[in-house]
Amino acid sequence: MSVARVKPEISRIVGVEVWFCSVDDLNSVDHEQVRSLLSSDEQARNRRFLVDHPRHLHAAAYALARHAIGRRLGLPPAELRFGRAPGGRPFLAHPRGMLDFNLAHGGGLAVCALADGCRVGIDVEPADRPELSLELLDGLLAPGERDRVTARQGSARQEALVGLWVGKEAVAKAHGGGLSLPLDRLVVPEGDGPVTMTAVAGALPPVWRLHRLRPDRRHRMALALALAPDAPAAISFHDATQVFRGHRPPAASAGPA
Ligand SMILES: CC(C)(COP(=O)(O)OP(=O)(O)OC[C@H]1O[C@@H](n2cnc3c(N)ncnc32)[C@H](O)[C@@H]1OP(=O)(O)O)[C@@H](O)C(=O)NCCC(=O)NCCS
Repeated sequence: MSVARVKPEISRIVGVEVWFCSVDDLNSVDHEQVRSLLSSDEQARNRRFLVDHPRHLHAAAYALARHAIGRRLGLPPAELRFGRAPGGRPFLAHPRGMLDFNLAHGGGLAVCALADGCRVGIDVEPADRPELSLELLDGLLAPGERDRVTARQGSARQEALVGLWVGKEAVAKAHGGGLSLPLDRLVVPEGDGPVTMTAVAGALPPVWRLHRLRPDRRHRMALALALAPDAPAAISFHDATQVFRGHRPPAASAGPA
């Protein structure tokens, strides 16, 4: 699988935006409004969710994508068209260009990350996600990563596990190969830092970067960029909940954790 579809130019600053929306802070009128921003295909897909919470998360993620990409490109959100690569990764089919994006939903948050000049991956999970365990991630962690978890106890241990998992998923989603990648050989840092990609054939550049973001106290988020650690990038973080809540003006952007 090629991961070089979007190539940064030398010394160009890569613009990265991370948008999130807390669906628990929206009421039923807001949810309807959010759904109305989706294309008819997206709305049809959205109707297939039988349970309210995942349906709201799915709608909010695509509404975020339309809002954020439209704003970035100066286009009406309804003009955008999304496609889906064979592994399931969504991409901007119209207009084609340098802009890459990725979506995630976890806990109460829908998230969309955009990068103008490199591949981007995003993941979010509740900080205490109880289903995640060392047994569940058996074979997906490097020995040093497993040690990082077992050195801790109680909630700190669970948070370390969640931190590892969102980091790995963000990298896997930037690539597009998902859980088919050799995740035990993609070692993610605890904080911001480099991720060596040499275990993945064709991954360029050979070292990517991971950023940790903290949207609130309850969630952990990781952003992966297929971009050399020393390449210039400008990352901004935006809470769009207010945008979708009665369509009041957007909240001021917050900073990375
Ligand atoms: C891709 C994957 C990591 C997503 O993880 P998740 O925790 O279930 O879900 P998240 O909330 O983080 O992200 C879901 C979104 O990621 C995006 N996505 C789906 N497949 C993707 C992929 N291969 N790469 C990047 N993003 C992907 C989609 O936008 C999806 O939301 P949508 O279906 O509403 O459009 C996971 O579903 C996966 O790998 N599944 C196993 C299937 C697999 O291994 N396939 C092998 C080839 S991908």
